[in-house]
Amino acid sequence: MPHLKVKPFDTSTIKSKIEDSSIMTFFATSDRLDIVIGIEHKNEEFLLQLKQSDGAYLLKYDKVTRPLKVNILKEALDIVSKELSLEVLSSNIALSNTKPALSSAYFKKIEDFEDIKYPKDKVSVEVGFGSGRHLLYQANKNPDTLFIGLEIHTPSAQQVLKQIELQAIENIWVVNYDARLFLEMLPSNLCSQIFVHFPVPWDKKPQRRVISKSFLSESMRVLDKGGRLELRTDSNNYFWYSLETFFSVEKTEVEVRKNEALGVTSKYEARWLKQEKDIYDVYVKSTEISSKKDNIIDFNFNKVKYIQGIENCLSKQALVFDDYFVHFERIFKISDTSLLIKCAFGSFDRPEHKYILLDSNGCRYFVSNPVKTTVNNLAHKLLIEQFILKKD
Ligand SMILES: C[S@@+](CC[C@H](N)C(=O)[O-])C[C@H]1O[C@@H](n2cnc3c(N)ncnc32)[C@H](O)[C@@H]1O
Repeated sequence: MPHLKVKPFDTSTIKSKIEDSSIMTFFATSDRLDIVIGIEHKNEEFLLQLKQSDGAYLLKYDKVTRPLKVNILKEALDIVSKELSLEVLSSNIALSNTKPALSSAYFKKIEDFEDIKYPKDKVSVEVGFGSGRHLLYQANKNPDTLFIGLEIHTPSAQQVLKQIELQAIENIWVVNYDARLFLEMLPSNLCSQIFVHFPVPWDKKPQRRVISKSFLSESMRVLDKGGRLELRTDSNNYFWYSLETFFSVEKTEVEVRKNEALGVTSKYEARWLKQEKDIYDVYVKSTEISSKKDNIIDFNFNKVKYIQGIENCLSKQALVFDDYFVHFERIFKISDTSLLIKCAFGSFDRPEHKYILLDSNGCRYFVSNPVKTTVNNLAHKLLIEQFILKKD
């Protein structure tokens, strides 16, 4: 990732240069002497970090706010080093022509689903597509259906995006996100199938399993009447666990098959077949039309404003509840009346990492709102309480 190594300099001079800067918007320091610089460049907002390293300073990107286009970052590093008259010791900011990873039109971010048009009437979802054999096969076989493939492993997502372009397939969207949270983004009654093929059994950490009671009820909401959740597994343990989960929900039809051959053999399946393992399919049919999702999630902080001394009142410990948490990780001071607060919050499996800009005019997430999930909404309400309660 692009960075500059520069000769140590007097960082207190940065503040005075912000006013005349073409891209620097603020400068902030934490009590641990970390320094961040707010940047606005080519319609993107992000942070640069300044860290001490081996007798020099490292000017580098910030993981949470990093822009997708790496050249924007490199340009910003170059401009900042010139505007601050820094003496560069080493650099890797030569502009490149490589396309950013996951830049395909068939790659969708979870935020895109807040307001997305589905290009086909029929939609199916595949959870954890891995090498993508089954996803690509289904998409080729059913050109009238849009397949949304979910995969948390980024290299697998990148590989399948390559295959989509090579095979000129137009009916797959790839989403690099946790399926357990993603389903919340879909409207009710949208899908005809949800495939979960060979999920990781997580025998020692069952809380990490894809199949759970809440995943099942979200699946039933998202599936159209008559649509099916299709689990395929080689794990005897996972099979029985899933059956128990499926039977615990009312009004579903469950069908079980053993050693059924499908039109395509996935990479994992091929491995189990070689070992002559049994393979189980469990189909769960949605038998009802689900009511519309009431999706009123609002990430405004409304009347929240900076209150003198609030930085000393925010909990140092993570605030942990059954389904979510909030942790104030670092507090940066921009001025006597403005703070930049680095937080982690939301789900335990896929926490959000965000900065919050809190000043005497108001409060907002820097640089973008969290994903509209129920747990993020709960965390947001708690954040408001934390910022307001301290008034008294
Ligand atoms: C055992 S592999 C199976 C891959 C593929 N379905 C097959 O049959 O070859 C499980 C895959 O699920 C992905 N995965 C695990 N948990 C996930 C989650 N919560 N959301 C999305 N993908 C997940 C993993 O990264 C992995 O690629």
